Amino acid sequence: MPDPGIQEPTDAIIRVTSSGICGSDLHLYEVLGPFMSEGDILGHEPMGIVEEVGPQVTHIAPGDRVVIPFNISCGHCFMCENKLYSQCETTQVREQNKGAALFGYTKLYGEVPGGQAEFLRVPQAHSGPVKVPEGPADERFVYLSDVLPTAWQAVEYAAVPGVNGLGTPLDGNTQPGTLAVFGLGPIGQMCCRIAQQRGAREVFGIDLVPERLEMAERHGVHTVDARETGNVADALRELTDGRGPDSVIDAVGMEAHGAPFGKLAHTLAGFLPDPVAAKMIEKGGIDRLSVLHTTIDTVRRGGTISLSGVYGGMVDPMPLMDMFDKQLQLRMGQANVKRWIDDLMPLVCDDADPLGVEDLATHKLPLDQAPHAYEVFQKKQDGAIKILLTP
Ligand SMILES: NC(=O)c1ccc[n+]([C@@H]2O[C@H](COP(=O)([O-])OP(=O)(O)OC[C@H]3O[C@@H](n4cnc5c(N)ncnc54)[C@H](O)[C@@H]3O)[C@@H](O)[C@H]2O)c1
Ligand SMILES: [Zn+2]
Ligand SMILES: [Zn+2]
Repeated sequence: MPDPGIQEPTDAIIRVTSSGICGSDLHLYEVLGPFMSEGDILGHEPMGIVEEVGPQVTHIAPGDRVVIPFNISCGHCFMCENKLYSQCETTQVREQNKGAALFGYTKLYGEVPGGQAEFLRVPQAHSGPVKVPEGPADERFVYLSDVLPTAWQAVEYAAVPGVNGLGTPLDGNTQPGTLAVFGLGPIGQMCCRIAQQRGAREVFGIDLVPERLEMAERHGVHTVDARETGNVADALRELTDGRGPDSVIDAVGMEAHGAPFGKLAHTLAGFLPDPVAAKMIEKGGIDRLSVLHTTIDTVRRGGTISLSGVYGGMVDPMPLMDMFDKQLQLRMGQANVKRWIDDLMPLVCDDADPLGVEDLATHKLPLDQAPHAYEVFQKKQDGAIKILLTP
C-alpha cells in the first residue's frame, strides 16, 4: 500500500509502533469475511509517533507519542458532547445503518484504512489521539485504544451493586456484589481485573482454554472451566448462595464454542457467494448464542447483564420470557473509548501496574508475520492470548 498523506485539515499521520489484533478482527477473519474488499487494511488498536498534523490539529504535534481510540469521533456533535463517542453523528456510517466509523473495519464501518500498518492516517485527529508519556514500554499504553476502555465500560454497564458507586447497594447487605465474566480473552481478562480493582466482592471467570483460565487465576479470579462443568449456570449459582452472580458480562461474542446451529450457519455462509452470504449474516439469526443464553440463565433475578462481545445477526432468537420474568437489565454497545481515558490513565501510568497490563500480551510479532498471528490467535495455538504487531 502507498503511505498515507494528510487529506483534511483535521487529519494526522502516525508512524505505528505497536498495533493489537482484537477478537473483533477475528469476526472479519471468518464470519464477516464477506464484508471485506481487496485492499482493506485491518486493525483498530494502534499507537505510535505523530509524523505530521493538519492545520486544525493543535493538541498534538510531530514527535508526540499517541494512542489512537478505535472509534473515529468528532468531539463536538450531539453524541460526542454526551460522551457517546461510538455514536458520533459526524462520522456515522449511515449507508450501513451503523454508528461512528471505526478504523480498519471494512465497508461495515466506513472503510477507513486501519492500524495494522506502518503508517496510519487519523481522521478527526483534532479530537481522537490521546497523548501518553515517554518512558514505559508500548504495552503499558496500547490497550487504551480498545481493550481497557471496552472492559471499563463493560464493568460500568454491569452495574455491580455497591461497587464504587456503580450499582445500587443491596439492601440489608453492605457488601459489594459479585460478577461473572464469560470469556477470558483480552477483554474478559481486563473486565475481571477492573472489577477487582474497583472492589467487586468476588469475580468469577469462565472459559475453556487452559492458558486463559491460568492467566485469570494468577490475577485472583475464581475460574470455572466450561469443559469440565456440566451446567455452568448451576455451578455459578452454587458459588453464590443459590441465587447467581449479581452481574454478568458476556465477553465472548458471536463465535462462542458449543453452539451447533450457529456454527452450521457460519459454515454455510462461508460457502455462499459473498453478496448472498453478507445478506444472510445481516438479515439472518446466525450468531452462536449459547453463551448469551447461559448468561441469562446465570445472572440472579433482578441482576444486570453487560454485553461486550459483538453479535451480528438481525433476528437472533432471545428468551424474552425468561428475561422478563427474571427482571433483567441488559446493557451493551461499542465502547465510547474517550469517555473512559481519564479513569484509566492514572492506572496505566502507575509503575505498580495495578491492572497488570504488562501481563496480557503473549506475542509480539513483526507486521509481516500477521498471517501467522491471526492463525494462532484464532485457533488458540501456541498459548496466544493477546498479540501485538510491531511494524
Ligand atoms: N464492545 C466493544 O466495543 C468491543 C471492543 C473490543 C472487542 N469486543 C468484542 O469482545 C469479544 C471478546 O474479544 P477478545 O479480544 O477478548 O476476543 P477472544 O476471541 O480472544 O475472546 C473470546 C473468549 O471467549 C472464550 N469462549 C468461547 N466460547 C466460550 C464458551 N462457550 N464459554 C466460555 N468462554 C468461551 C474463548 O475461549 C476466548 O477466550 C469479541 O466478541 C469482540 O468482538 C467488543
Ligand atoms: Zn477491538
Ligand atoms: Zn461526533
